Amino acid sequence: MDARIGLKSPRHFLDLDGIDARVLRRIADMAHEMKKAGKRVPKHLRPKDIEDMVLVMIFEKPSTRTRVSFDVAMRQLGGQTIGLNHTDTQLGRGEPIADTAKVLSRYADALMVRTNLHGTLIELADNATIPVINGLTDRSHPCQVIADILTFEESRGAIAGRTVAWVGDGNNVASSWMHAAVKFGFQLRVATPAQLKPDPEVVSWVKAESGGDAVVLTDDPAEAVKGAECVVTDTWVSMGQNDVARRKQLLGAYAVDQKLMGRAAKDAIFMHCLPAYRGHEVSADVIDGAQSVVFDEAENRLHAQKAILAWCLGVD
Ligand code: CP
Ligand code: NVA
Repeated sequence: MDARIGLKSPRHFLDLDGIDARVLRRIADMAHEMKKAGKRVPKHLRPKDIEDMVLVMIFEKPSTRTRVSFDVAMRQLGGQTIGLNHTDTQLGRGEPIADTAKVLSRYADALMVRTNLHGTLIELADNATIPVINGLTDRSHPCQVIADILTFEESRGAIAGRTVAWVGDGNNVASSWMHAAVKFGFQLRVATPAQLKPDPEVVSWVKAESGGDAVVLTDDPAEAVKGAECVVTDTWVSMGQNDVARRKQLLGAYAVDQKLMGRAAKDAIFMHCLPAYRGHEVSADVIDGAQSVVFDEAENRLHAQKAILAWCLGVD
């Protein structure tokens, strides 16, 4: 029981598949409200006693957006932050994950972690008595996709019933987009090479939850993009992956360029979570062109993090 925020068990934000659709919709709506409100977060969106609260952030991998947007988000809510690289902690010397979770729960009020293995995140959450937030693992990147929903909706209106195309690697960000398609009720068309298909466990979950309607898998980028209102891609080589030459060879036909964007809806937007590699997964004229909303998307990480933190710390 976290008596400070009156909750029986911590509100972890681990993955979109494990959170009720109405709660996710509420978090996205709060993100819209946070953006409209700017730096001064209105009282009804601020967790009770936030000025006494501390967010600890631990990174096993590099980060620019997640690190800074969570830090600024917690400060704008009125709380404080501690940011750590895991090698600066005893975790980096092999202290048990469970012990770390129990100790940090005695000092802090929320924990945001970026881990190599998804299992590390789960072990932390299983042993923490404070909310644990997924700041990217090898499985997923749910905070990114809440920001992406906000970005789609401010540009195109409600995402329910709309069509989004994912082109490239079937990676961690793709998995969170697949979870989101089911939870937010839109269609996601995913084009990947056969060798880099999305996580089969996520594909099975989509089938079980939506009968398969929410996500269409193909190896043809043109088919995925046809008429879509939003085209999304990501780096071909995620952090921790070493098979660079193989990935470049497999993904060469999946680059998002003007020709591919031309198959999407006339006013389609282009999204990328960043960091981006121009001339690889996306051409410079697309990512720096009129259809690209990548810097709004990056900004929206801040507004989304405020909404996620607020929910984790007891705001409904
Ligand atoms: N998109 C994203 O998570 O960026 P960082 O790796 O910079 O945090
Ligand atoms: N798929 C990328 C996302 C980076 C924010 C990675 O895991 O490296």
